[in-house]
Amino acid sequence: MDGTGSPPASAARPTPALTPLTGPSGTRERTPAGTSATGPAGPAAAAGPAADRPAIRLESLSKSYPDGTVAVGALDLDVARGEIVCLVGPSGCGKSTTLRMVNRLIEPTAGRVILDGDDVTASDPVQLRRRIGYVIQSGGLLPHRTVAENVATVPKLLGWDRTRTRARVHDLLTLVGLDPATYGGRYPAALSGGQQQRVGVARALAADPPVLLMDEPFGAVDPVVRLRLQREFRAIQAELGTTVLFVTHDLDEAVALGHRIAVLSAGGHLEQYAEPAAVLGSPATDFVADFVGGDRGVRRLAVTPLRSATLSTPATVRTGDRPSFASARLSSVGARWAVVLDPGGRATGWLSAQDLVDGAAETSLGPLARPLPGTADLDRSTLSVLSQALLVPEGWVAVLDGDRYVGVFDRAGVPDVRTDTAAAGPVRPVVPVTERPGGGAHPLRRE
Ligand SMILES: Nc1ncnc2c1ncn2[C@@H]1O[C@H](COP(=O)(O)OP(=O)(O)O)[C@@H](O)[C@H]1O
Ligand SMILES: [Mg+2]
Repeated sequence: MDGTGSPPASAARPTPALTPLTGPSGTRERTPAGTSATGPAGPAAAAGPAADRPAIRLESLSKSYPDGTVAVGALDLDVARGEIVCLVGPSGCGKSTTLRMVNRLIEPTAGRVILDGDDVTASDPVQLRRRIGYVIQSGGLLPHRTVAENVATVPKLLGWDRTRTRARVHDLLTLVGLDPATYGGRYPAALSGGQQQRVGVARALAADPPVLLMDEPFGAVDPVVRLRLQREFRAIQAELGTTVLFVTHDLDEAVALGHRIAVLSAGGHLEQYAEPAAVLGSPATDFVADFVGGDRGVRRLAVTPLRSATLSTPATVRTGDRPSFASARLSSVGARWAVVLDPGGRATGWLSAQDLVDGAAETSLGPLARPLPGTADLDRSTLSVLSQALLVPEGWVAVLDGDRYVGVFDRAGVPDVRTDTAAAGPVRPVVPVTERPGGGAHPLRRE
């Protein structure tokens, strides 16, 4: 219910240093793509915005229609810089209206929209839309323009030269996973739904807007493609540091993408504004409890890092131990099996007490050890690791912190998710930025 909120869990991420929305000339200048790795130096950057100023602030924002419909009634909401905030709620509750009031596609009847400290409620809507990316279902592409021309729309309006525009289009198509040489010259009709959606995202990001508005952007693609687009988008957003206001009626999508979720009920009433884990773990109102539904326990596991789950620590033995020595060790702690560690503390396998009896003639445990049923990194979500543990006969997987073995997650060890909200943090995006082909800092990254 708190529209301002405390600093997000993501505050630990590097704060992207944005140039102000409006420079002295009234336009927002950014470094060309490919040159921003060291950051845009200069007076505009030096006089940059206060780090704690919300990227978007909605103040008593309202929209009512002449027929008496209150689409949105006095909504207060702050969106922190660099976060994805998902507006979620049932159909007709005012999500799209809220979003479209931010870029003035719908004129508010009352209240204010403040972008990076700048009241834009009365600014020129055309200028405004050039600095706010907007993505809708099916990409909203212009059918008679090629993919490259579609992506170049806003840079052209901003008067970028051809070289800079072309470089930007190339980088963005690459970023969203479309080969510029293959797809740049195609028309939207020659693309799949998922590809059109990628182009829509590239187009919205073209002028490197500090704010991106997305209205059910992945609603028209099939569930598998949708999942992939969500993961890719989360990784792209993490790289670029763009602030995103994202509308969806799908709670799972909101949980997967949002750093925070704003749950709205009819009339744009804010029922809860919190991190996904808190919305699922501690719904603030009956409406939210009802909306998140009976599956919320499982959903909550999806946003609980394994780090905050309870791991078991079975007996451990060393690869170099003699079977008789290891047997005695298991007996002394009453264990029926043990994890085998190498001299560097890495888990290399496991074995049962019976394996030690059967292999008593061996001089070390190396030849006796069975392969680990699976391994999982401490930063994975508890749900994904539980799923892994459910699929192996052993019922557990070894948990690693980087290289280091830290314990095992057993399917019997599902954590209590009822109140544990503080321990939950953002789960690592499924497509880690470091795994991008070629590696290194991305040329489009905001620094
Ligand atoms: N021109 C209009 N006149 C009256 N009511 C409208 C008009 N446009 C939208 N509405 C109403 O505003 C409410 C919010 O709509 P919308 O923001 O599109 O909902 P959502 O995106 O959450 O599904 C709905 O009840 C809708 O019927
Ligand atoms: Mg809508």
